[in-house]
Amino acid sequence: MHVLVLGAAAGGGFPQWNCNCRLCRGVRQGTIEASPRTQSSIAISSDGDRWLLCNASPDIRTQLAANPELHPRRVPRDSGIGGVLLVDGQIDHATGLLSLREGCPFDVWCTPNVHRDLSSGFPLFRMLEHWQGGPTWHPIPIDDDHREASFEVPACPGLTFTAVALTSNAPPYSPRRGAPTPGDNIGLLIEDRRRGTRLFYAPGLGELDDRVRGFLSRADCVLVDGTLWHDDELIRAGVGRATGRDMGHLALSGERGLLTELAGLPATTRRVLIHINNTNPILDEHSAERASLTEAGVEVSFDGMRLEV
Ligand code: MLT
Ligand code: MN
Ligand code: ZN
Repeated sequence: MHVLVLGAAAGGGFPQWNCNCRLCRGVRQGTIEASPRTQSSIAISSDGDRWLLCNASPDIRTQLAANPELHPRRVPRDSGIGGVLLVDGQIDHATGLLSLREGCPFDVWCTPNVHRDLSSGFPLFRMLEHWQGGPTWHPIPIDDDHREASFEVPACPGLTFTAVALTSNAPPYSPRRGAPTPGDNIGLLIEDRRRGTRLFYAPGLGELDDRVRGFLSRADCVLVDGTLWHDDELIRAGVGRATGRDMGHLALSGERGLLTELAGLPATTRRVLIHINNTNPILDEHSAERASLTEAGVEVSFDGMRLEV
């Protein structure tokens, strides 16, 4: 399968419009070596022609312009995007649906929890009904007893998608903020049946249990939550009060951090970080933290990165 990283940053992007932290200032002024990044989104394809957009970022217009694979090619009104999948209902992953309104109706896959939030607290589905009837919702099933729920997407023939409920957090506007239930956040194991390869994609990973570890260990490539280096990074930088734990993002560093988990994967697994917050020192290509990732064989995704799995 082909994977396009459209946006590698977490909510706010890099630099964030109102952020004067060392990294945002540094990338604006050119005093650090770092690339700007737009907000969290990838596209997946089995044939390189039709693409499934995984998360629709507020930066979608720039992202589509930057990726010729997604441009219209065949008929007067057209797109390389053959559907949209949302792993949660967060602002940075869902707002881009508004910018796709001219293409309604289009297919959207998300869990019942996410569909409920996007029909009430942030009623994108209901608003978009005023554009040619709005998106067609396809529920991603999440069973309470944690059975695996596999499905297929017509735009990606030959790929099988399996959703795993993650412990992270519901969006700030959701009635389940602070008390998420299965389906508020999912990870995806995407299998290319022809190649026999698997990608695990989880930009919002708050806690790992053995079930999630099983998904990670089955993948040839993991594209996972690189939001924070330190759990209290926003506090240290003086830009916020929330910890990674509050937000539902497991920090990379520390004995029980995500890097320790990634170190336990088979040596052949490709490890790539995505959804990187603008306070994370790994964005600075000359930082000690970035050097330690390189040494550990962990890559940092960037806008325009292409992965073949
Ligand atoms: C998150 O990933 O925790 C959210 O996107 C943060 C936000 O709403 O900006
Ligand atoms: Mn986010
Ligand atoms: Zn910043």
